[in-house]
Amino acid sequence: MNKQYWSNRYIQNTTGWDLGKVSPPIKVFVDKLINKKLKILIPGSGYGYEAEYLFLNGYLNTSVVDLAKEPLQNIKKRVANFPEKQLIEANFFNLSKNQKFDLIIEQTFFCAINPKLREQYVKMCYSLLNNGGRIVGLLFYDIPLKEDPPFGGDKFEYLKLFEPFFEILIFEKCMNSHSSRMGKEYWIEFTKRA
Ligand SMILES: C[S@@+](CC[C@H](N)C(=O)[O-])C[C@H]1O[C@@H](n2cnc3c(N)ncnc32)[C@H](O)[C@@H]1O
Repeated sequence: MNKQYWSNRYIQNTTGWDLGKVSPPIKVFVDKLINKKLKILIPGSGYGYEAEYLFLNGYLNTSVVDLAKEPLQNIKKRVANFPEKQLIEANFFNLSKNQKFDLIIEQTFFCAINPKLREQYVKMCYSLLNNGGRIVGLLFYDIPLKEDPPFGGDKFEYLKLFEPFFEILIFEKCMNSHSSRMGKEYWIEFTKRA
């Protein structure tokens, strides 16, 4: 799934994953955050309604990264003062490990990348986070691995990948998902191990 593949999905408007608004569990999480200075990254953000919500609620150090330029242009149109340098058009796996974040928010990016890259995803998140940094968000509830995105996965596999690098604070069935995803997601909160 290369840059062209993802751009085409936006150009052809075949974006079945797009909720059209901030994901409810992520909104609830953001509403409980306090520290407006947090450096936040949303990888594979797509249209980035979560980034918009964060930014408009004072989390001005929110960045998104996406391979496709179309959704980033869309964010810029919706939120004119969202800083260009925080709309990163790049491959997540090529981000410089010199930049650090306090919080990574996951939603339908992990399931969109080739499963062979999952270990690299976990290590990349680890490298990009400050000490004590967190990865928070949603992973698909147990569904078999498929040939195309969303690739699926299960709790056993997720734990095997994340546990060596992250302390598992919360890993539970999400109870406040968007209605179209009810019962199909885990809510996760993991902290970077020292
Ligand atoms: C299934 S979509 C999910 C978008 C968004 N998270 C949402 O929930 O609406 C996956 C997104 O990841 C982006 N993407 C795929 N591979 C990527 C990579 N290696 N680096 C950065 N973005 C990537 C795609 O362009 C697409 O926007």
